[in-house]
Amino acid sequence: MQKSVYDKFIELFGAEGDIRTYFAPGRVNLIGEHTDYNGGHVFPCALTIGTYAAARKRDDRVIRFFSINQSLKGVYETSLDDLNPSEEAGWTNYPKGVVWAFIGRGLKIDTGFDMVITGDIPAGSGLSSSASLEVLTGFMLRDLFKLDEVTNVDLATIGQYSENNYNGMNCGIMDQFASAMGKKDNAIFLDCNTLNYDYAPIVLNGYKIVVTNSKVKHSLVDSAYNERRSSCEKALEELQTVTNITSLGDLSEEDFEKYRSAIKDPTRALRAHHAVYENQRTIKAVQALRDGDLDSFGKLMNASHVSLRDDYEVSCPEIDVLVDAAWSCDGVVGSRITGGGFGGCTVSIVKDDAVEAFKETLTKAYKEKYDLTPEFYVVSIGDGPTRFQ
Ligand code: GLA
Repeated sequence: MQKSVYDKFIELFGAEGDIRTYFAPGRVNLIGEHTDYNGGHVFPCALTIGTYAAARKRDDRVIRFFSINQSLKGVYETSLDDLNPSEEAGWTNYPKGVVWAFIGRGLKIDTGFDMVITGDIPAGSGLSSSASLEVLTGFMLRDLFKLDEVTNVDLATIGQYSENNYNGMNCGIMDQFASAMGKKDNAIFLDCNTLNYDYAPIVLNGYKIVVTNSKVKHSLVDSAYNERRSSCEKALEELQTVTNITSLGDLSEEDFEKYRSAIKDPTRALRAHHAVYENQRTIKAVQALRDGDLDSFGKLMNASHVSLRDDYEVSCPEIDVLVDAAWSCDGVVGSRITGGGFGGCTVSIVKDDAVEAFKETLTKAYKEKYDLTPEFYVVSIGDGPTRFQ
């Protein structure tokens, strides 16, 4: 892919000068869903699929973008003096937002650039193609403009900031952090309140992590996401009238039950219940993995799905069919929806010799119920962003 992005760059923008190529990964979250913006823990890992770019600095203030995946849209041209988001800017609102956020932080971007991208994250799969594009853009800007003071954690927070404030999606820090801080064969145990993190080696002797793409993405995802987030914020305010906490992630299960009646609305109490219990499940799951207790890890994944389905209500019937089918298979340690929800992917831990039967069972169940064919990816955990040349 790095070659195709480079070749396309030369074809469109010429071969002269200092052309550089970059990559930033997508992510899959193993457990800890909708906990990041609630001050809880997450446990994602970077994938070996992601977004690639070829780029070169310019002498003027023009910026040109081209995406091989959306080639019909052609070259989109803008300038450093015209960085407002717009509908017609389409996907380029992501890199534009990152440029805007860099400048907003006082980082010196004093010329434009040309950038061609491509990627192998399936569209709408919930494997964070937008976060990988944001981190990729930040990584590229740091390199092109020699902004060495910017750390990889900054790349994550700048990416999130631009997504929240430029693209209007109130996401947490998980996706950008997983992309910017990925480490081969490790998942990242991140405390989203403090951004303290620890790598946990994923050594699954005899097991595979399998991502199943439902290939459905229900509309209104972003508005439902923002709604869940504000319900949790409101529940937190109510809880703060009876206990001294700064986020839902501060609460143990026992404390939540003690103070729960402060939350007036029953649906809101369910949302907060998920956030508190999911955070505790994540902490327990990482411990189980460290203890080599994969069975407990899998049970916590299953409980995560039930809570996302029933309390947080971010699953959907198509995903539930895939998860139910996974649970019915021999050799499946755990299976759950992953990512923001309302479609996208599930993540499952499956015994090596059961992977084929797992695929068959899910394909059959999904076909029967929805006449759709899922896609499967056996996950390899990769590193964070890189420059090739
Ligand atoms: C999306 C968001 C993340 C996180 C997940 C749910 O992927 O971008 O910040 O909230 O949903 O865990």
